[in-house]
Amino acid sequence: MNPSLEPPIALQGHKVLVTGSARGLGESFVRALVQAGARVAISDVLHERGQALARELGERTCYVPMDLLDPQAIEAGVAQAAQALGGLDGLINNAAVTNSGGKYFNEIEIDTWDRVMQVNVRGTWLVTRAAHPHLKASGRGRVVNLASDTALWGAPRLLAYVASKGAVMAMTHALAREFGPDEITVNAIAPGLTLVEATEYVPPQRHQHYLDGRAIARPQLPADVDAAALFLLSPASGFITGQVLPVNGGFVMN
Ligand SMILES: NC(=O)c1ccc[n+]([C@@H]2O[C@H](COP(=O)([O-])OP(=O)(O)OC[C@H]3O[C@@H](n4cnc5c(N)ncnc54)[C@H](O)[C@@H]3O)[C@@H](O)[C@H]2O)c1
Repeated sequence: MNPSLEPPIALQGHKVLVTGSARGLGESFVRALVQAGARVAISDVLHERGQALARELGERTCYVPMDLLDPQAIEAGVAQAAQALGGLDGLINNAAVTNSGGKYFNEIEIDTWDRVMQVNVRGTWLVTRAAHPHLKASGRGRVVNLASDTALWGAPRLLAYVASKGAVMAMTHALAREFGPDEITVNAIAPGLTLVEATEYVPPQRHQHYLDGRAIARPQLPADVDAAALFLLSPASGFITGQVLPVNGGFVMN
């Protein structure tokens, strides 16, 4: 987040778990959340980076190791996050296998497909399941899932990832209905191609394709996505649920 900007939304005292937050968009969410006054559990499989981020940001953060491939580690990690923060009001399901692209549909290995689905889809379900009792107890629970606009426009040579993000969108709709009685909202953000370490491998032609197709024709940065996440975690968004919000400079439009 641009440090010269005031946080657009205050989240004083909110307690938020962000998965996959040692780097990239997740790290940006963590920084924006801390700036907005929240307490944050950083979680990842990149332990050194996650711990370093928590050290840098200080006492309102903690680091929780959690591998989304491991259901038991998810249960333990969510419990540890809730204990460290004193409960959970918010969850950002950000962790994903993001580097599975480049191959055509008939070149993808079965193992790659399975790993993408296990982390991006099953992992999102299991983290949300483990967080649900804490979110319910808070009385103001919020779930924000990271989808992707690739699932809205059908990006080629990215099939496992695109299919997993389509599933995240469908899960957002269905969980919103199941969580509604507990006044927990469930929404998704569908970012466009955003400049982070993980997208450095994306070919220049794909970056150009995005630049050419955006209504706002500039590169997308993590900070472009932060405010949407803060809003969807805030009390102001309490009657918005089951929605997928593209944040992509107008590359795809609802
Ligand atoms: N950057 C983009 O262009 C873009 C666009 C649309 C959607 N997204 C979504 O935003 C989210 C963040 O992506 P990013 O671009 O910052 O990429 P990233 O690869 O930097 O972030 C993903 C994080 O998830 C973690 N992770 C991977 N496997 C894990 C596992 N088994 N258990 C726990 N954590 C694991 C990684 O270590 C990493 O920190 C992802 O859900 C991604 O699909 C990104």
